[in-house]
Amino acid sequence: MRNFQVAIDGPAGSGKSTISQKICAKLGFTHIDTGAMYRAVTLEALNRNLDLNNEDSYKFLEDVVIEYKDDKIFLNGIDVDDEIRSQRVANNVSLVSSFPYVRKKMVEIQKKVAETGLVVMDGRDIGTVVLPNAQVKIFLTASVEERAKRRHKENKLKGKNENYEEILNSIKTRDYKDSTRELNPLKQAADAILLDTTNMNIDEVAGAIAGIISERLN
Ligand code: CDP
Repeated sequence: MRNFQVAIDGPAGSGKSTISQKICAKLGFTHIDTGAMYRAVTLEALNRNLDLNNEDSYKFLEDVVIEYKDDKIFLNGIDVDDEIRSQRVANNVSLVSSFPYVRKKMVEIQKKVAETGLVVMDGRDIGTVVLPNAQVKIFLTASVEERAKRRHKENKLKGKNENYEEILNSIKTRDYKDSTRELNPLKQAADAILLDTTNMNIDEVAGAIAGIISERLN
């Protein structure tokens, strides 16, 4: 089977997942949301009441199965896609994903699933570390206020009444931690195309990226 990799990176709430899903539906690619994987690790560590500051706490990753399929994340076969979107998980995921052991485990899984087929993988270090040879690399961004507004609207549609200021602050903190961590920080790959989506709607962004992919596929 032909292998074609699309790497989409960007800060919190830049629309990576929504856009990736749209592109995959349009072009028949498989979507892999790596943020959902780090969120699942965080959820499990919180559920087990582990010390999140101790790297050894994450040894449980030897015994759990984390899979992303059909746009949902599964932990030991159980769909935890709703639970991983909580503010509690969001507030702790940057810490959890800063540990080398956690990153090593997740990157191993991610490289493996992207080995065959047509994939769109989104995250923070996909174009730089996970899929350095991806045929298409996109770096998605938007103003922090716009990103917080989008996340607020998305949560409201799901019936979650979270405060806009709280979301804005959480995103700012996460962006800072994600881009300043030592290992695999959020960074635009040298060969990535930068797309500022502050003034673009979802269909415009998805259309632009699908156009780039189609061009390189042919
Ligand atoms: O959806 P949102 O933009 O809020 O974030 P996400 O993609 O679900 O990622 C959640 C968190 O996981 C990020 O803030 C990072 O701390 C971490 N992450 C990472 O370290 N590396 C990745 N490849 C993907 C996510």
